[in-house]
Amino acid sequence: MNSIFTDTLKGIKRERPPVWFMRQAGRVIPEYLKLREKYSFSELMNTPELAAEVTLQPVHLMGVDAAIMFSDILVIPEAMGMDLVWTDKGPRFTKALKDMKKPVDFLQPNPEKLNHVYAAIDAINASKPDNTPLIGFCGAPLTTMFYMVQGLSSNHLFPDAVELIYRDRETTEQIFEKITELSIQYALKQIEHGVQAFQLFDTHAGLIPYNVYLEVVMPYIKRIAKAVRATGTPFIFFPKGLGYGMKYIEKEIADFVSVDWQMCMYNAREIVNPEIGLQGNLDPRLLLADQDTIRKHLEQFLPFGKENHKWIFNLGHGFIPSIPFDNAKFVVDWIKSVDWER
Ligand code: CP3
Repeated sequence: MNSIFTDTLKGIKRERPPVWFMRQAGRVIPEYLKLREKYSFSELMNTPELAAEVTLQPVHLMGVDAAIMFSDILVIPEAMGMDLVWTDKGPRFTKALKDMKKPVDFLQPNPEKLNHVYAAIDAINASKPDNTPLIGFCGAPLTTMFYMVQGLSSNHLFPDAVELIYRDRETTEQIFEKITELSIQYALKQIEHGVQAFQLFDTHAGLIPYNVYLEVVMPYIKRIAKAVRATGTPFIFFPKGLGYGMKYIEKEIADFVSVDWQMCMYNAREIVNPEIGLQGNLDPRLLLADQDTIRKHLEQFLPFGKENHKWIFNLGHGFIPSIPFDNAKFVVDWIKSVDWER
């Protein structure tokens, strides 16, 4: 595959950083919003041809260097028997683990419930341009557990789930274990069906102190990473808010680490193991400003990109719905047209 994205992941120096965006499939693309008038989010996810169409929209319309499959991290709890509804305020489980007497017994993995994702990958591969790599993903055990225990994310603090980690380590670890086992199966199946890279999303890593994260969560991350990397598939890890804890990500864990917008790329480069590449980290909310302002912020990445070829341009978190499509496209065009002096 002749791809600037896969070359960069392999450490091959190219003339510019590759660019893609977290949550690029959906949200800011007018053609997606048109489809959403006709279909619900879960209909789009569960119909392989539609999921493939949405996956490829940012490639065709925005010009990004990689596609990420259109699905969601909450398919894993769904496949363990948790009933999920998509409301206007985001996803909500009809019954949260915090309200159950024996939450671990309730979780009954049924891997077949994930088959629609593999069918979507097949449909994407049948229709995507040859040199466009496809990124597979799942949620990390911590972020996934937060939603499962709390039931929803309305305040983004998941107080009962954080409490569980401190109060009942045994139950916490049993939930992590179940998520990890199914996630490994899920990741390996995605790879079998043909994804060229895999990203693990730990959006809420920053809700606990990093020493607790390293002790309680990292062993599970390591297992998922090991399984994915044993297949030769590059592994990108996004521990949002981990902060100084990124210093302790071992090279066995990730090929690339995705940096959030709280940190500056230079600081990240100083603390992250030099063998690990970086991805990131434009603040998505900058894209609500005018293009002159956006350009000024982008220019600050030039010296970093000149020196650092193990770097994939991305956001410090996903797109938010109110971002104008033209501003997202402007970023891609800028990355591709500016001289990176490499
Ligand atoms: O990156 C991509 O474009 C691929 C698809 C993708 C989605 N969700 C589609 C989606 C990915 C990788 C995710 C990951 C995800 N989902 C995370 C981790 C990364 C992150 O961005 O924080 C989390 C925490 C979720 C859970 C989730 N899904 C929430 C909280 C919400 C509602 C709030 C929101 O941001 O819209 C979703 C909905 C969701 N997932 C949409 C899309 C396109 C919006 C659906 C719609 O209304 O059209």
